[in-house]
Amino acid sequence: MRLSSVDRSKVCTFASPMQSFFTDHIIEWYQIYKRSLPWRDTQNPYLVWLSEIMLQQTRVAQGLPYYEKFCRHYPTVFDLAHASEQQVLKDWQGLGYYSRARNLHQAAKQVVSNFNGVFPQTFTDLKKLKGVGDYTAAAIASFCFDEPVAVLDGNVYRVLSRYFGIQTPVNSTIAKKEFNTLAQKLIPKDQPGIFNQAIMEFGALQCKPKNPNCSLCPIAVHCTALKHGQVGQLPIKLKKKKEKLRFFNYLIYIDKDQKIVMKKREQHDIWKHLYDFPLIESGDALSRSSIEQHPSLPFFDAARVELFNKVPKIHKLTHQHLHIHYWLIYMDKIVENALSLDQIKLLPKPVVVENFFDAFRFS
Ligand code: ADE
Repeated sequence: MRLSSVDRSKVCTFASPMQSFFTDHIIEWYQIYKRSLPWRDTQNPYLVWLSEIMLQQTRVAQGLPYYEKFCRHYPTVFDLAHASEQQVLKDWQGLGYYSRARNLHQAAKQVVSNFNGVFPQTFTDLKKLKGVGDYTAAAIASFCFDEPVAVLDGNVYRVLSRYFGIQTPVNSTIAKKEFNTLAQKLIPKDQPGIFNQAIMEFGALQCKPKNPNCSLCPIAVHCTALKHGQVGQLPIKLKKKKEKLRFFNYLIYIDKDQKIVMKKREQHDIWKHLYDFPLIESGDALSRSSIEQHPSLPFFDAARVELFNKVPKIHKLTHQHLHIHYWLIYMDKIVENALSLDQIKLLPKPVVVENFFDAFRFS
């Protein structure tokens, strides 16, 4: 790849030619191959923040429609701060990792009340916002305010690990410091935002986790992993803990008026502040009789009990796998606080609850 289009006056001096080759070529590659994405057309920190929170642990294709929805529903930080948490969670429904949405809402309130509605402009101040860690603060500070702070995400770890042949496991406790020191040396002081975007995009599109096409790579000549036949082995990751298995028995009380009992999740657990059903959780699969005899279950007025799904619904989260059974408990009476389907439609719900309503018909 040629370097003629890189503005030499903007290129810093580096510790090694291998490093400056890397930075120059990554930026040039980005200018040619970057995807056109809406958050790249703005330096508005509010919009950049929205996009970065949404894109954590989320693919661009999945995050994009949510970004567009939030821009429509909450065009400014004031709109987001003044919305109800329930509405924000509803708009976030389906994107997962719901603490991100709760933190987003709280951070919007912080910007309004602690920063007079003006988004903080430095890495240090950005980190004062709820849910904003090193990665997000570095992304906003560099993209919007040209602060030379390096971002580290999964893509950056992979690119650096391969190019420089770093064998430190990327999910070890010492990795962050080591990779950050290196990334901080690489970042050009005069275009830190472009460099950060470029290295992330390079990891997403070119230096992909599986089967990257190294024959087309503009930095292949100096890539340590390629030289040593280690592209498939790097980055090294320590083995993850095995996922926890959880068994959920949802009790779906359906009253005489075909209203259903919903429950707001208040505990420190998955799906906090979303709505699901009264739940019996067990360490193992429960039989029908142990469900029916369960002490927490007021079956006394039940006219009919039906198991909705014989095969458990398996729902995989990052660190846990849920095995879910839905029990339909038809009541002969009106149950106080039960909700109509129209009321339920408005509530933020986990995907496994929303999908239940898509499949369920009253009988
Ligand atoms: N993933 C995280 N941040 C991103 C960004 N700004 N553009 C594309 N993908 C991303």
